[in-house]
Amino acid sequence: MNKGDVDYDYLFKIVLSGESGVGKSNLLLRFTKNKFNIESKTTIGVEFGTRSLQICGKIIKAQIWDTAGQERYRAITCAYYRRAIGAVLVYDITNKQSFEAIERWLQEVKENADREIVIMIIGNKSDLKDLRAIRTESGQELAKIYKVGFMEASAQDGSNVDQAFTQIIEKIY
Ligand code: GTP
Ligand code: MG
Repeated sequence: MNKGDVDYDYLFKIVLSGESGVGKSNLLLRFTKNKFNIESKTTIGVEFGTRSLQICGKIIKAQIWDTAGQERYRAITCAYYRRAIGAVLVYDITNKQSFEAIERWLQEVKENADREIVIMIIGNKSDLKDLRAIRTESGQELAKIYKVGFMEASAQDGSNVDQAFTQIIEKIY
């Protein structure tokens, strides 16, 4: 490629949503930098991360947007979802309330994003087996009802993080 050319074939904007503390920022950190932050602070405004993947010989640059689950720290909803072609809705498998909130987050995506947006639900913190409050089947059922993708993952030990993001990117592609 010549200098000045973009270094990818496609740019995909993917947004992360879900309650505060479910691990959105750490999923982003794991996927883009293969790191984990045990003392991560609540996100204020909006943050970004990118990672390029090769799919069918094309370079896809995933630009992942991350905002606060907490209302008062959130980025403006309309701008956040604008031109997003993927949305990852995250709950914490040890936190029932965060799972029950997924329907509200789905609603927000549907109200603010393009109709063709590809949605995926992630049940995060799968490493915390002893604290589990939501069965895997419950996540699967919810995803089936709304006809969206589903995976359990752990930003902490890294399991299924690449798989989950790769799955949504492949679905978009
Ligand atoms: P907001 O920015 O407030 O919306 O929160 P968030 O969804 O970005 O959560 P964040 O990534 O900041 O993680 C919250 C806490 O959960 C931090 O203490 C993380 O270290 C922890 N955490 C995140 N992912 C995991 C995980 O997979 N397993 C475990 N055990 N802890 C996690
Ligand atoms: Mg955050």
